[in-house]
Amino acid sequence: MVEGRPRRALITGASAGLGREFAEQLAARGVDLLLVARREEKLKEAAHALVENHGVDVAICAADLAEPAAPEALERFARERGLSVDWLVNNAGIAGPGLLDPTPWVDQAAFLQLMMVSVAELCHRFVPAMRERGYGRVINVSSFAGRLARPAGANYGPAKAYLVALSEELALDLKGSGVHVSALCPGFVHTDFHETADLMEMKRGLPSWIWYDAATVVREGLAAVEGGKPIQVSGRLYRWLDPLAQSVWIRPLLKALAPGRES
Ligand SMILES: NC(=O)c1ccc[n+]([C@@H]2O[C@H](COP(=O)([O-])OP(=O)(O)OC[C@H]3O[C@@H](n4cnc5c(N)ncnc54)[C@H](OP(=O)(O)O)[C@@H]3O)[C@@H](O)[C@H]2O)c1
Repeated sequence: MVEGRPRRALITGASAGLGREFAEQLAARGVDLLLVARREEKLKEAAHALVENHGVDVAICAADLAEPAAPEALERFARERGLSVDWLVNNAGIAGPGLLDPTPWVDQAAFLQLMMVSVAELCHRFVPAMRERGYGRVINVSSFAGRLARPAGANYGPAKAYLVALSEELALDLKGSGVHVSALCPGFVHTDFHETADLMEMKRGLPSWIWYDAATVVREGLAAVEGGKPIQVSGRLYRWLDPLAQSVWIRPLLKALAPGRES
């Protein structure tokens, strides 16, 4: 509670997957919500269930975060309704095209807007007020794909690496302010992500033991930000692999193993 009011979480990508699970776990703690995604019907269904099950206040705002105007519109939406944002969960994301795919630049730019620029702008717009109030929790949903370079399209991984760098540096800037910032880096998680990206064949080809459920990932993310941990790799397997991904030995090895043509 803050000054007699419950805290409120703005969650992007709340219509499905990890975002929907963040809404569930935060509502179970009595946190009011502001849910954001493009599919308004899904948001309405989620809001109805969350109000029914947890008795929290839930506002919804349909927005396409690939549109450059969306973060400002979201800030206006919250201000006009008197909603103070204490938690910011930047979770919306897609697999997207590879940088060198013959996708028109306008779609490439929309991907980068969604995955990086909108996250930075939402931090810019909402975090200063958290700092003034002396309390805030920010989770930027990154990925284990942001923890090491792979020959995998040069878009998704670098965008997620930016979220790790952004979170780590913001956490340093905000040290002692009462605002905690964490990058959450999951490996493979059962959500709609792979179906949306037409990657179900790839998913079926991967062993079941490398997959985690959304509830575990979100629980670990919430614990990390409460504990002031700037980077949380989620899932025991990925936590075990992470020191290897950060070691000086992995880059020459990946270079040697990467498919490629000699010039
Ligand atoms: N699943 C995995 O294996 C995995 C692993 C590591 C990291 N992640 C990251 O986890 C985050 C959540 O993904 P997920 O796995 O939960 O996938 P998901 O089930 O497909 O959910 C993605 C969410 O993002 C929203 N979204 C997509 N594009 C949007 C846009 N332009 N504007 C606003 N909202 C948008 C979707 O809502 P609408 O379609 O209604 O807009 C949906 O609510 C992503 O950032 C993803 O990169 C996922």
